Amino acid sequence: MHQVPSSLFSDGTMPQPSPRDRLIVALDLADTAAAQAMVARLGDAVTFYKIGLELTYGGGLALARDLVAQGKQVFLDLKLHDIPNTVARATEQVAQIGATFLTIHAFPQTMKAAAGALGTSPMKLLAVTVMTSYDDADLAEAGYASGVKDLVARRARQAQAAGVHGLILSAEEVAAMRALLGPDMLLVTPGIRPAGAALADQKRVMTPAEAIRAGSDYLVVGRPVTQAADPKAAAAAIVAEIAGA
Ligand code: C5P
Repeated sequence: MHQVPSSLFSDGTMPQPSPRDRLIVALDLADTAAAQAMVARLGDAVTFYKIGLELTYGGGLALARDLVAQGKQVFLDLKLHDIPNTVARATEQVAQIGATFLTIHAFPQTMKAAAGALGTSPMKLLAVTVMTSYDDADLAEAGYASGVKDLVARRARQAQAAGVHGLILSAEEVAAMRALLGPDMLLVTPGIRPAGAALADQKRVMTPAEAIRAGSDYLVVGRPVTQAADPKAAAAAIVAEIAGA
């Protein structure tokens, strides 16, 4: 089974996962049958899958267990946020599925509750600082005094202090967050488009090589793989680009 490295080398640095293990394919497909067919088609080219809210409510947790049983790593993008007791109990349940990554919203109570519930589980928590669909006007409307940039930095520091392992953030925020947080926070970036791939609804994108060079640890890629004419070749090309970055 592939595992996220969790121990330090003697010089204090983290061992890097292999280029193949740094690609996380988003299974944003209509149902679990379509997702399972895609996993079978991708075979050994992909080791790590993200299951989001839509598929979770359509049988995705059973699929997550299946993938873990097949030796795949699973990122459950559930964006937990509730009172601390509920977040803690839900985190324990997700850890038992064997997920590698779980997302939570970057509110201090939520992050402390989730981090405190991990116990001996190797699962890593990723915080969502500010949804990328929000701009300064959306935050003002929701009653926040700070703009996006300040709130992202504030919550990123709070995540690190709470014992959260990493952040999910757009590739264009990575370089600044790496400088702010240092080498040990995991930075996981969607919005990746290989050169020439369709943007679809993504507006601010980076190529796999650009995102890795900016400091991303893991890339989340959906449609450029799952809607490619040859998904396995598309995934292999991204892994080659990660390896060459
Ligand atoms: O198909 P595509 O590569 O655009 O998929 C990107 C994945 O990353 C989707 O699952 C999307 O929900 C997720 N994501 C994103 N932007 C964010 C956070 C998550 O695209 N800011």
